[in-house]
Amino acid sequence: MNIPWQKSNALQKRASKVMPLGVNSNFRFWGEGITPYMQKAKGAYLWDADGNKYIDYRMAFGPIILGHAWDEVNAKVAGEIELGTLSAMTYELEIEVAEKMVRMCPGLEMVRLACSGTEATMHALRVARAYTGRERIIKFEGMYHGFQDYTLWSTYAPVEAYGNPRSPIPVPSSSGIPRPLGEMVVTLPFNAPDILEQTLRAVGETVAAIIIEPCMGNCGAIEPQKNFLQFVRRQCDKYGIVMILDEVKTGFRIANGGAQEVYRIKPDLATYAKALANGYPLAAFGGKREIMSIIGHGVSQGGTFTNNKPGVAAAWATLTILQREPVMKTIAKRGKRLMNGISKIFDEAGIPFCMSGYPAMFSYAIGVEKVSDQRSWSASDKEYYLRLAEALMERGVMPDYDSREPWFLCYAHSDNDIDRTLEVFREAVKAVKR
Ligand SMILES: Cc1ncc(COP(=O)(O)O)c(C=O)c1O
Repeated sequence: MNIPWQKSNALQKRASKVMPLGVNSNFRFWGEGITPYMQKAKGAYLWDADGNKYIDYRMAFGPIILGHAWDEVNAKVAGEIELGTLSAMTYELEIEVAEKMVRMCPGLEMVRLACSGTEATMHALRVARAYTGRERIIKFEGMYHGFQDYTLWSTYAPVEAYGNPRSPIPVPSSSGIPRPLGEMVVTLPFNAPDILEQTLRAVGETVAAIIIEPCMGNCGAIEPQKNFLQFVRRQCDKYGIVMILDEVKTGFRIANGGAQEVYRIKPDLATYAKALANGYPLAAFGGKREIMSIIGHGVSQGGTFTNNKPGVAAAWATLTILQREPVMKTIAKRGKRLMNGISKIFDEAGIPFCMSGYPAMFSYAIGVEKVSDQRSWSASDKEYYLRLAEALMERGVMPDYDSREPWFLCYAHSDNDIDRTLEVFREAVKAVKR
């Protein structure tokens, strides 16, 4: 990386003495001497610790849907925290957030709030298990549902470790995950209805939940093939399985009603975090009244911070803005232009690629023409992706340094930002030879 990151490097050295890898999440570590530290962010822009400015397309891994430090959201939070930051009682704003979510998301009849996406998926899995009286779950290779032990299987491993796609081997993605949990998880390739059908014929009656990201947002942004989500829905109905749609990345990002609105699908349960509160810590899970209603009746769920006022107030303001302003339409227009522009640049340079995802959340896999699951995506040229990301950052445009993370857009990205990004992209492609 050819960016003067002296201050970042000094901060990394200092941080590494008190924090493993010098960060508070492994995902924020890009490597020794190439991990940027941050000074501030506003709207679509971010400044690193050395004062370099970037058009930001990481959006904090997706939560920033309006723009960094959005004035109206901050003002709502500031006003509400004057009245207390946390209480061991429920307040009206929480109810209003739940009401807004139920109104906006087709599959939601009831919700419970949580603090992070990890928590939301963990709670949803418990509720599904409690509802069905079964323990086994199905998840898809390359999908990430947070750091809890139940689903951190076959997420990042080299796909060679996964075995044959008809009978995949679940591979834990970290030391420290209890091996017996592997007995409870079946991992399958995404977008393979025949393999799902075959698996369910064998074990369907023992499966509590199928947890699925509607789009593989932690493996680029691989969309579901036509009717795949509907197929999963029908299979869940057939075997009495709870369908959990993990909308932590897609929720309040690809449409006001998330993937449920885009694909006209009603899961049994859905999970949210990220864009729900434009960067403040709030998450949620919810779904059918019949299933959610078992909470509190022998089924535990809760948390000291699940109604934290900054998160709840930020969600209230974010959802209010989403309902009032053409946020999705604006992002769709600008994001489409960016996707088309990038595609044109690759075409003109003769670089094979596969563009996938949505204007608010997209990615390109280099050197492959089609990706449908983690196995096919793995064949893409990740080294070139990295070199290109470096060339973009050197020129003031910041995508993630990891090709698994999509590009994220926000309402604050202007037409000028898109123009400038495309200019920079063209220069970067010229500068980096494959
Ligand atoms: C689809 C999905 N689910 C769950 C999570 C976990 O969310 P959190 O990082 O808030 O725990 C993520 C995080 O990236 C995610 O992308």
